[in-house]
Amino acid sequence: MADKKAVVSIDGKQVDLQVRSGTIGPDVMDITPLYKATNMFTYDPGFTSTASCESKITFIDGDEGVLLHRGYPIEQLAEHGDFLEVCYLLLYGELPNAAQKADFDYRVTHHTMVHEQMSRFFTGFRRDAHPMAVMCGCVGALSAFYHDSTDITDPKQRMIASLRMIAKMPTIAAMAYKYHVGQPFVYPKNDLDYASNFLRMCFAVPCEEYVVNPVLARAMDRIFILHADHEQNASTSTVRLAGSSGANPFACIAAGIACLWGPAHGGANEAALTMLAEIGSVDRIPHFIAKAKDKNDPFRLMGFGHRVYKNYDPRAKIMQKTTHEVLGELGVKDDPLLEVAMELERIALSDEYFIEKKLYPNIDFYSGITLKAMGFPTEMFTVLFALARTVGWIAQWNEMIEDPQQRIGRPRQLYVGAPTRDYVPVSKR
Ligand code: SDX
Repeated sequence: MADKKAVVSIDGKQVDLQVRSGTIGPDVMDITPLYKATNMFTYDPGFTSTASCESKITFIDGDEGVLLHRGYPIEQLAEHGDFLEVCYLLLYGELPNAAQKADFDYRVTHHTMVHEQMSRFFTGFRRDAHPMAVMCGCVGALSAFYHDSTDITDPKQRMIASLRMIAKMPTIAAMAYKYHVGQPFVYPKNDLDYASNFLRMCFAVPCEEYVVNPVLARAMDRIFILHADHEQNASTSTVRLAGSSGANPFACIAAGIACLWGPAHGGANEAALTMLAEIGSVDRIPHFIAKAKDKNDPFRLMGFGHRVYKNYDPRAKIMQKTTHEVLGELGVKDDPLLEVAMELERIALSDEYFIEKKLYPNIDFYSGITLKAMGFPTEMFTVLFALARTVGWIAQWNEMIEDPQQRIGRPRQLYVGAPTRDYVPVSKR
């Protein structure tokens, strides 16, 4: 097929730009020659119209509410797979066969312990420190312990670092929770699956045996799957940009954790539950809907809206189903927060403002209710998001390192500051 072209015409000068097509989804207009040809930059704050890279990992169709990981729909992965299988898929590009799955599970399981010195990091924090602050600090510090897997030019070291991150995040997250609630750390057990191990490290106490509830373990594993990767979102782009300078993988993941913490991104699950608690009852919903629509009010309905999804977030549907399963298993009949959430969703989806702006519930709307019911405090919600997203960050980081086109990311700007001017001595100011 003849190469497609786009033509930019500036002051009568025409610049031909190559148009490239992917497997599915929008084409891209390659603007790499633009600055040299026109001495002009493109301008796209928030990157609403910008593709930052080529990727084979995840595809999202925001209008259709589609999410694929290496071509597999999220609905099928959440239904039939487990989180470590999705980790293998994201990292290697194919679903593992039985032998590959067993080997991958074994390798991850045998990297779950952290260096014993890590536990001293926690004692430096106040007990009421936000667990996300602890995660930023501790994950960044991992590079101080694992010098043998920080050479990013060595594929073997990159894969060891990748496995270490996937394996150790639950252990560090559980330690952050235990430190926060003032209970002793619980070591991982190699005879438990990934999600069960995490629940036990969080909720077991020395005084009695902890029995994992298989329904909650399955729900936890599915929640990890739903949060595993999501194309070039803010925190993944942060990891890619940090990695483009050659920074070690542990430092790059710490940067991703910091970005995810924001309430507009991964912090929305904590903010959504806080909002539901603030609304408190169904009769107060109209007041908050009005606030969300008021241009002069910074209030937003947390858990609603998305840069890409202009239809229902497919993860939110699966999350809602998981919420009902967990509440059913725990015998939580009439959770007032769930009642408010479902009524808020019903009203918002029929309100012309939300319809016009295509604001649907996203992954963060129901996850908080589920995690609260499972026993996690709200400040742990984004920690769990970071735990699950680590595999997506590390898969995208590896893809960036292996991309022959990759170079240090360095955007330019439209300068609107002061023109050149001479220094004025303080006596004359
Ligand atoms: C995640 O990118 C990813 O893939 C992220 C994520 C992932 O898996 O990595 O999916 C995870 O971050 C999900 C999003 C979680 N954030 C929230 O739930 C916070 C509430 N949502 C909003 O802050 C907002 O919708 C964003 C940040 C999610 C999207 O922001 P955009 O694309 O920049 O949209 P926008 O802010 O330009 O909003 C468009 C319009 C605006 O009105 P106008 O200026 O056009 O008049 O919609 C309005 C906004 O005011 N709007 C909302 C709203 N979200 C957008 N109004 C009320 N409540 C909201 N939640």
